[in-house]
Amino acid sequence: MSGNAGGGLVWGLKASFLRYVTSAEGEIKVSDGADIAGSETEFLFPSGDEKGRFTGQVDFDAHGGMLKVTIADPWVEVAEDGKATLSVVNPAKLKTDRSQRITIADLGEIVPQGDGTAQASAALTMHGVWLLGNVYGPGDELDPVTFPWAG
Ligand code: HEM
Repeated sequence: MSGNAGGGLVWGLKASFLRYVTSAEGEIKVSDGADIAGSETEFLFPSGDEKGRFTGQVDFDAHGGMLKVTIADPWVEVAEDGKATLSVVNPAKLKTDRSQRITIADLGEIVPQGDGTAQASAALTMHGVWLLGNVYGPGDELDPVTFPWAG
C-alpha cells in the first residue's frame, strides 16, 4: 500500500513548500476529514462519493497571516484523451460556493502500483501558480499524487 492511499488521495503538495511554511513557523491545519498521512510529510484526503473525488481540507498559514494557502476537496479527473488533472475548491469561494473549482495541476502518466492505488507526477498549472502566491512557475513540479485505482 502506498501510504494510506487505499483510503483516499495521498499528497504532500510540494515538499519545499512544506519545509518553507514549517521553517517560517507557520501553521499547517487539517480539517474536514483530511489527516496527516503516515510519512507526516503527506496528507490523506478521504475518498468521496464518486471515483476520483476526495474530501478534506489542509490550511497553510504563515508570516502572521499574510501567507494563506488552502487545499480543499482535491479531485482527480481523467479527460477523454487520457490526460489527467487535479482540481481543488477555488480558495476565494471556500465559504460561499464550494462547487467553484480551479485546476491546479496537470498530472503525468497514471502508473498503477499493483496494490489498488496508482501514482502520477504533478505539474503546476497557471491557477496552481496563483494558489501558491505566484512564486513558482507554470509546469513546476509538485509532489507526486497517489490515489485508489482499480486496474
Ligand atoms: C511577509 C511576507 C513574506 C515574506 C517575508 C516571505 C519570504 C520568503 C522568503 C525569504 C523565501 C525564500 C525561502 C527559502 O528560499 O528558503 C520565500 C519563498 C516562498 N514564499 Fe514567501 N514570503 C512572504 C509571503 C509569502 C506569501 C503571501 C506567499 C503565498 C503563498 C509566499 C509563498 C512562497 C513560496 C511558495 C516560496 C517558495 C518556497 C520553496 O519552495 O522553496 N510567501 N518567501
